[in-house]
Amino acid sequence: MKKRLTINLNKKSTVELLKVSSGSLIVGAYEGPFTEELKKIDEVSKGQLKKLRKLGELNGKLGQGNYLPALMGIRAQRTYLVGCGKKGKKLTRQDAIKILTKMVSAAISSKSSSAFISLPKLNVTGEGDDWIVQQLAYLCENNSYTYDAKLNKKNQKKISLKRVSLTIDSPIPDTKLNRNIKIGQAIGRGSNAAKDLGNLPGNVCTPSHLAKESRSAANKYSSLKCTVLGEKQMKKLGMDCLLSVGNGSAQESKLITLNYQGGKKGDQPYVIVGKGITFDTGGISLKPGGAMDEMKFDMCGAASVIGTLQVMAELKVPLNVVGMVASAENMPGSKATKPGDVVKTMSGLTVEVLNTDAEGRLVLADALTYAKRFKPKSVVDIATLTGACIVALGHSTSGLMSNDERLAQKLLKAGTTSNDRAWQLPIWDVYQKDLNSNFADIANIGGRAGTITAACFLSRFTEDYSWAHLDVAGTAHLGGAAKGASGRPVPLLSNYLLDQS
Ligand code: BES
Ligand code: MN
Ligand code: ZN
Repeated sequence: MKKRLTINLNKKSTVELLKVSSGSLIVGAYEGPFTEELKKIDEVSKGQLKKLRKLGELNGKLGQGNYLPALMGIRAQRTYLVGCGKKGKKLTRQDAIKILTKMVSAAISSKSSSAFISLPKLNVTGEGDDWIVQQLAYLCENNSYTYDAKLNKKNQKKISLKRVSLTIDSPIPDTKLNRNIKIGQAIGRGSNAAKDLGNLPGNVCTPSHLAKESRSAANKYSSLKCTVLGEKQMKKLGMDCLLSVGNGSAQESKLITLNYQGGKKGDQPYVIVGKGITFDTGGISLKPGGAMDEMKFDMCGAASVIGTLQVMAELKVPLNVVGMVASAENMPGSKATKPGDVVKTMSGLTVEVLNTDAEGRLVLADALTYAKRFKPKSVVDIATLTGACIVALGHSTSGLMSNDERLAQKLLKAGTTSNDRAWQLPIWDVYQKDLNSNFADIANIGGRAGTITAACFLSRFTEDYSWAHLDVAGTAHLGGAAKGASGRPVPLLSNYLLDQS
């Protein structure tokens, strides 16, 4: 794991911007008259800013930026001005994040080890300065992520940024702002841990590797305990449905539990369960070859669980949380499950496996049954479950389905405030009949609404508790030039759990 950034907070009244000795100085600029800060910079630089403004190069429009290296009269080596729009104007969270992202990119791209960010007053609808510093800290960690675990030294991208100082003029006490900085940083680092696991290739990141990484997370924090069930133990528990997915693979399937005790002993835990298919070939219902490499990301739900538990432990959140990872490799082979095979779940229901590529729900079914033993307050599963979810919601929004409207609303809110958004889809009874089978209690596929029927399948195993399902097929990893794991939905999950504490 990479080194933590140092982020510290300074009182605005005590900061002398011109004397800041950081490698880069990053200042907000509004449309219209210069702020006192900009007036000072303009003065010492002998009217540079006024000149830029005349040229139309410094208009303060939201997201507009100026890079001014070696500015006269400024001790910092580089100055960046970042447009913040009209002063006092109401901003959406997305507007504010655009500004903050621009500031963080300036800090990261400056090649220097230290940056000083002077935050302007931003008027964000529904959020205060505590949210702003938390987002900024999150972005500092999240956006300085690089994946180079398998690269030759000379090809590794080096990010020099080590220290960020920020200053904000806020009525909120420093102790609270500092706590929010810690939270934002922890969530950013949890997201990065999830990305690291997601980006590893399938030949390295196997179910056993996820078990190893979970154990090492537990070794790092005394509040985290890890237990791993192998195939023998799962067989004993009657988890034939989970086990059927790994039948064609040489890799042993694992059911991993990370137990975080931050609350009182008897407190009911919040359970989160991740789909951990370390490679999804589709099995005998083999996937087409194009972009199949991206099925190494089919364990991103699991990665988000492991990442979120690290956030809880890092922040010492006063809650009990159980993280579970249902992990297998979905391969074709002479022992692999075939279309039409019937398997028995731990719950007693039998499943006709009509398509071996609908494997995520099979591993989750038994994990969700197992979750009952924790007497959970709520259970949230996270899975790259259906391609149909990408068709419905694209790559910006996760799908949410739940048997408990109150839980659904809490998760939606957590997604909104952390800008890790989800949108709810129905799992009404009318969809349940799509899973009827002539040969078993239920089929593993059916109907046209693929994302919803997948959730309906899971709902058969979650009747005894408050449950929600996040389909992150479109959001946990991205394709194209930015191919890679995104760390989502660690921010949503972390925020949800923090809200419960
Ligand atoms: N892991 C896939 C879903 C997926 C597809 C995630 C593309 C990310 C990108 C899942 O196991 C799967 O194969 N689902 C099938 C279900 C179908 C057989 C009912 C799908 O979506 O095609
Ligand atoms: Mn599949
Ligand atoms: Zn899958």
